[in-house]
Amino acid sequence: MIKKTLLICQFLILTVMSLGSAPIFATGDPDFDPPLAPLGPIPEPPDNRITAEKAELGKLLYFDPKLSGDASLGCADCHDPKQGWGFNDPICRGYPGAVHWRNCHTVVNTAYLSKLFWTGSSKSMEKQAKSAGTGGISGNGERDVMEQRLRQTPYYVKKFKNVFGTERPILNDAWYAIATFERAMLSQKDTPLDRYISGDKTALSEDAIKGLELFEGKANCIECHNGPMLSDEKFYNLGVPRPFEWEEMGMNTITFRFELYAKGVHEDYYRDFKDDLGLYFDTKRPKDMGKFRTAPLRYLKYTAPYMHAGQLYTLEEVIDFYNEGGGSNEMTERKGNKTKILKPLGLNDDEKAALVAFLEEISGDEIKMAIPKVPQYAPVPDAATLTQSEAKQAGLDMYLKSKGGESNGAR
Ligand code: HEC
Ligand code: HEC
Repeated sequence: MIKKTLLICQFLILTVMSLGSAPIFATGDPDFDPPLAPLGPIPEPPDNRITAEKAELGKLLYFDPKLSGDASLGCADCHDPKQGWGFNDPICRGYPGAVHWRNCHTVVNTAYLSKLFWTGSSKSMEKQAKSAGTGGISGNGERDVMEQRLRQTPYYVKKFKNVFGTERPILNDAWYAIATFERAMLSQKDTPLDRYISGDKTALSEDAIKGLELFEGKANCIECHNGPMLSDEKFYNLGVPRPFEWEEMGMNTITFRFELYAKGVHEDYYRDFKDDLGLYFDTKRPKDMGKFRTAPLRYLKYTAPYMHAGQLYTLEEVIDFYNEGGGSNEMTERKGNKTKILKPLGLNDDEKAALVAFLEEISGDEIKMAIPKVPQYAPVPDAATLTQSEAKQAGLDMYLKSKGGESNGAR
């Protein structure tokens, strides 16, 4: 009986869904494609609730270069508010003296993603911030040094105590505060797309509405770019070509070789492959070579160039790429793992322009923010880490200084 009721329910749900306007099973792949949806409330992990004070602290830390190896590079140097909260070079800058090997994402709306980075290798904003601060070609920071810098900044000592209840700043809490800043202040609200989906049919222009119809229909973008973030967070090899930088720029080649080695790639592959192995780095399954996470599409107007190494400079180039049925790279040729979903689309010029209009309009307003002044150091003796005689001496020094006297400097 229960089984029968369940079957009837399933049948009813499927019937109701198939009556909706969005195609539920787009061509090419028999999986369920959730319709585009408004962003909804900001996801908030139970161990890192959003508070206004924590977000404010996170904002300063996001802009503060103290959280990198040589105290020269904050998150904002690569995720710049004026560059779509990303970096506008095809391949990102790196830690001083190095270059990155991939295009820099925007951090806008990342609160809504469950897999971060081009291959989804980080599963939470907190862990992601930590790897950004410590990774060799990004922040390259040493844990104890960064922590000590926070402890030698009186403003942070006070703020960390208020927010996290600790006597002295703990580095791990800094990543929590940064994640809170990103969630609370870098999530879009009420964009034209959200308003349109929620029933305001004037929120998008006629061109953009035509673009949306193509997106969900003839152009079949919805097959992968679906749900609230316009990403199914699955992985595909589209045949995005090798970036020219890897052949022509020595520094980029070095970073690529370093990454192959650091990610534990087999010696044969290390010597042999010249393209980004993508998801393979995480799974080590040959069928995952060259696959990348479906990119979210909500802030594109501000984040050119596009794709994992900025291979395509404009949205027009992106649409042309898809119109031709994607491209080819080392992995599609040697491993035959180009996704079967991409096919030439036969879009005419008007249709291509409509798709571009849709992608631009749904980007909504730019999130602007003035760069805050970060707090200054004021070195203080850290009594808990001193030996007893050092602590006594530090106390005596301070006492004598307050009396206008001089320390004898003895230890
Ligand atoms: C040297 C430049 C650099 C610095 C510094 C840097 N990032 Fe990034 N960030 C990147 C690049 C490049 C990527 C993409 C890398 C990849 O996916 O392999 C990225 C990816 C990300 C993502 C993933 C977004 C997505 O869509 O999956 C987030 C979130 C992020 N960074 C946050 C931060 C935070 C927070 C900091 C500071 C603690 C920081 N980054 C510091 C260059 C940088
Ligand atoms: C088979 C799944 C799939 C389909 C279908 C698909 N995409 Fe993508 N899209 C992806 C993946 C995966 C990436 C990242 C690829 C990479 O960097 O190698 C991506 C990247 C993009 C980007 C770059 C975003 C950025 O921030 O760099 C844009 C724009 C885009 N797609 C738009 C579209 C449009 C428009 C369509 C329909 C014409 C479409 N996509 C169809 C999977 C798909």
